[in-house]
Amino acid sequence: MSSNNNKAPGGFTHERVETSNFLLIVLTFLVISVGGLVEILPLFFQKSTTQPIEGVKPYEPLRLLGRDIYVREGCYNCHSQMIRPFRAETLRYGHYSVAGEFVYDRPFQWGSKRTGPDLHRVGGKYSDEWHRIHLNNPRDVVPESNMPEYPWLEKNLVNHTVVEQRMRGLNKLSYHYSEEEIAGAEAAVKGKTEMEALIAYLQGLGTALR
Ligand code: HEC
Repeated sequence: MSSNNNKAPGGFTHERVETSNFLLIVLTFLVISVGGLVEILPLFFQKSTTQPIEGVKPYEPLRLLGRDIYVREGCYNCHSQMIRPFRAETLRYGHYSVAGEFVYDRPFQWGSKRTGPDLHRVGGKYSDEWHRIHLNNPRDVVPESNMPEYPWLEKNLVNHTVVEQRMRGLNKLSYHYSEEEIAGAEAAVKGKTEMEALIAYLQGLGTALR
């Protein structure tokens, strides 16, 4: 069969596109940009993806620092924070995650790998003391656990000097911290351990929706 069979009117053949680097790149780029515009752009204007759901507020100072520790320690490498809308997931973890819960998560901690369980609705599931023992040595409460231990969290104090600046920075991304909240932030976190901050963060996870 000769390639002349799929000749289009005007000599613009499939073969011509496939054998020209330039044409193939330009046309591929065109297709991807149109697909991207149609799928991604509307997300920036939809209420369901840009407005927080009821009960979701910017992180209070201690939780904000706890979240930084979660990121620093790489917890997202083993834990997702994204419950998918499938029965097996909602039975195990609770209500599936919705976009309005992540409005104040920059960057989001959805993760992509579950060595351990999803943590999006872990808030309130255990006591603070359980988390303290678990983070110091997971084997003390879950004997078969292969989660690493984080004993230094209890020894390190949080860096209270950065919190005001962090909140002002986040206000530029429309977090709406009031001047009063910012003024009281340093005193609220001073002398707290990294363990306390991380547990405060975990205990607030996913509590707006049950
Ligand atoms: C190497 C992988 C790994 C890393 C890194 C890791 N975990 Fe885990 N995590 C696990 C595994 C596996 C479990 C399940 C066994 C257990 O409960 O210890 C778990 C369980 C948990 C649980 C209990 C969840 C539940 O619903 O029972 C919490 C909370 C938790 N991890 C928090 C953290 C935090 C916070 C960090 C970062 C400081 C972290 N994990 C880092 C593997 C990991």
